[in-house]
Amino acid sequence: MQDVTDLFFMNVIAGYGCPDYFFTEYFRVHDSSGLDKKILRSITENSTDRPIFAQMIGESVPDLVRIAKALSQYPIAGIDLNMGCPAPRIYRKNVGGGLLRDPEKIDRILGELRNTVEGRLTVKMRIGFEDTTNFDRILDLIQRHSIDLLSLHGRTVKEMYHGAVNYDLIAHAVQRVSCPVLANGNVTSAPSAAAILHHTGAAGVMVGRSAIRNPWIFKQTRQYLSHQPVCTITLADVREYIDRLYRSTTAQTVPERARVSYLKMYLNYIAQGVDAGGAFLRDMRLAQTQAALFSVCDRHLLSNPDQEFSLEPYPGLVARPSSETSCSAGTPDGVKASSEPYFSASAVLSSN
Ligand SMILES: Cc1cc2nc3c(=O)[nH]c(=O)nc-3n(C[C@H](O)[C@H](O)[C@H](O)COP(=O)(O)O)c2cc1C
Repeated sequence: MQDVTDLFFMNVIAGYGCPDYFFTEYFRVHDSSGLDKKILRSITENSTDRPIFAQMIGESVPDLVRIAKALSQYPIAGIDLNMGCPAPRIYRKNVGGGLLRDPEKIDRILGELRNTVEGRLTVKMRIGFEDTTNFDRILDLIQRHSIDLLSLHGRTVKEMYHGAVNYDLIAHAVQRVSCPVLANGNVTSAPSAAAILHHTGAAGVMVGRSAIRNPWIFKQTRQYLSHQPVCTITLADVREYIDRLYRSTTAQTVPERARVSYLKMYLNYIAQGVDAGGAFLRDMRLAQTQAALFSVCDRHLLSNPDQEFSLEPYPGLVARPSSETSCSAGTPDGVKASSEPYFSASAVLSSN
C-alpha cells in the first residue's frame, strides 16, 4: 500500500506470520520515469523469504514495456499492472483506475506487456470505473492475454473505499477467467477471509488495511482454515508490535517528529481494534512527542495488558490515510527524505 506498507513494515509483519506474497507500492511509469530506487530496495532487500510482485502504474505502452523489461532483471515474482487506484489525481491521467474506462487501451497495454514479460504478468483492478459496464469486456481481455493472476477489489473506482464490497462480482470473475483470482476488499479477519473465499471461490485473498491493524491475520487465517484454534492477541502483544514498528524507523537521520508522525500513521489502523469508543485513537492523534505518544500507548494498552485485541475493527473508527488519495499528504517528509527506504506492499494469503 502506497506510502504505508514499506520494507520495514514487511519485515515487521513477517515476524508475526508472513503472507504468501507481497506486492510493492507502484512504480510510476511515464516518458521520463526510471526505476524508483526506494521502491526497488523493497525487492532487492526483501529478506522475508516470500516472493514480491513489482507493481507498475502508467498508460504509455512503450514506457510500460521499458519499465517491465527493467524490472524483469530483478528477483520478482512477476510484474503487476495497477488498474485500480482511485485517487482522482491518478485516474485523471488515465492511469490506475482510470484505465478501466478504456478497454481498447487495456487491450493494447496487456498485449504488449504479454509479449514482453516472460515471467508472470498480473493485474490488480476494481470491478469498474463508475459502474460495471466494462467489467466482462475487461475480464475477457485478462483471459485473452493470458494474465497469470488477477487481484480484484470488489468496488468501483468511484466507490473508493466506501460501501459494500461486491463479492458476487468477484465470484463471477472467478468463473469467467481461468487464472487464479485473489479476492480483495474488507478482508478484516480470519473468519472474514474464510467466508470470502467460500463465497467467491477465489484462489486466495489480498489483505490491505487489516494487515496493518492486525499483522497476525495471516497466521490466524491459516489456523482458521486448517481448523486449528486461532491464536488470541492481547493488548500487550499489540504494544510490542508498536515497539517493533517504532524501532524499525529509529535511524539517526530521521527526526523524532517525523518518526512520531510515521508511527501515528500505523496507529490509526491499530487503534481500530483497541477500544470501541475510539479513546486510544483520539489520544494518540493529540500526542506530538515520542514520550507523549508512548505514554498514551502504555495507558491504553498496558493498564489491562491481558485484554484481547479485537479480531474485527470496531465500527465507526476511521483510519487516515484511508486511501491512496491522502496518503502522500500523510507521509512524514523527514522519513521520506531520510536514507531509510520507504516502500509499500499489499500482502496476500492464498488459500493453498
Ligand atoms: C493508503 C492506501 C494505499 C494503497 N496503495 C495501493 C497501491 O499502491 N497499489 C494497489 O494496488 N493498491 C493500493 N491500495 C489499495 C489496497 O491494495 C486494497 O485494494 C484496498 O485497500 C482494499 O483492500 P482492504 O479492504 O484489505 O484494505 C491502497 C490502499 C490504501 C488505503
